[in-house]
Amino acid sequence: MTVETSRIEPILAPRLLPPNERPSAEGARGEAPGAAGEAGAGAPAASPRLEARAFSLYYGKHQALRSVSLAILPNSVTAIIGPSGCGKSTLLRSFNRMNDLIPGVRTEGEIRLLGADVSAPATDVVELRRRIGMVFQRPNPFPKSIFDNAAFGLRMLGLRDRTELEARVEQSLRRAALWEEVKDRLNRSALQLSGGQQQRLCIARCLAVEPEVILMDEPASALDPTATARIEELVLDLKTRYTIVVVTHNMQQAARISDRTAFMLGGELVEHDETRLLFTRPRQKLTEDYITGRFG
Ligand SMILES: Nc1ncnc2c1ncn2[C@@H]1O[C@H](COP(=O)(O)OP(=O)(O)OP(=O)(O)O)[C@@H](O)[C@H]1O
Ligand SMILES: [Mg+2]
Repeated sequence: MTVETSRIEPILAPRLLPPNERPSAEGARGEAPGAAGEAGAGAPAASPRLEARAFSLYYGKHQALRSVSLAILPNSVTAIIGPSGCGKSTLLRSFNRMNDLIPGVRTEGEIRLLGADVSAPATDVVELRRRIGMVFQRPNPFPKSIFDNAAFGLRMLGLRDRTELEARVEQSLRRAALWEEVKDRLNRSALQLSGGQQQRLCIARCLAVEPEVILMDEPASALDPTATARIEELVLDLKTRYTIVVVTHNMQQAARISDRTAFMLGGELVEHDETRLLFTRPRQKLTEDYITGRFG
């Protein structure tokens, strides 16, 4: 199925391929065996860092995820898009078992981190959440100093050596593109920072414990355009080192920052593909209707 490019130009303009690089005909999309179970995706070349396999989740009687299969590739940005209530945050929270904290939740299927089932009895959930960090929609620094926020996870892990703490805090603040703005006031309250700075501090707090995967649930939706642009730049920079999954309502943002995009609807994964293909040549009519603004 081909979408009229003119209708989606505003979403994809920065990422549209030159005509001679576009897939020219049906079947030229790298259809590949081995992607069994994943809605519409070409086969991932690398083995997945993180994977949902026929994963379903129920809040009591309400089924919020319906047999979702999604492979997240290493050192890439995967965007999850879809209308409100479709299950994006639920899926994100399932990856590091944050839903365990909600009473009445039941799951079927598997979430695998590097091939290992995260629900296996031997899983250390604290260690799982160190390996798979999370950044939320609203910046949520603790009412502590900037330094103590960035050092929080390291202290939880038992790091006491001041010199090493300082080095790790500086490194994570640098990686979160915040160091230059805060290096002279590390002992000030984090709550005095702007919203965008607070969000970068939350990213630094997450990076400090050396995660493998970073989950971001609408990380820029509470920020102004300038702060949003900084977060987007940061995400692109971080993917060289980390695997990133980002939920966003903003399709332009998904197009700007992600390598692959997953479209969800009603708890199902409708389609998952390279971002440029999903936005230019979606396979499913539902995806086409969503990205062209017919609903949602
Ligand atoms: N703690 C909960 N208890 C019961 N039902 C929940 C809970 N959290 C979410 N749900 C329900 O599960 C479904 C999916 O919710 P979820 O928050 O994952 O959607 P979403 O795609 O992130 O939406 P939004 O874009 O509005 O953030 C919704 O029907 C929601 O009402
Ligand atoms: Mg949500």
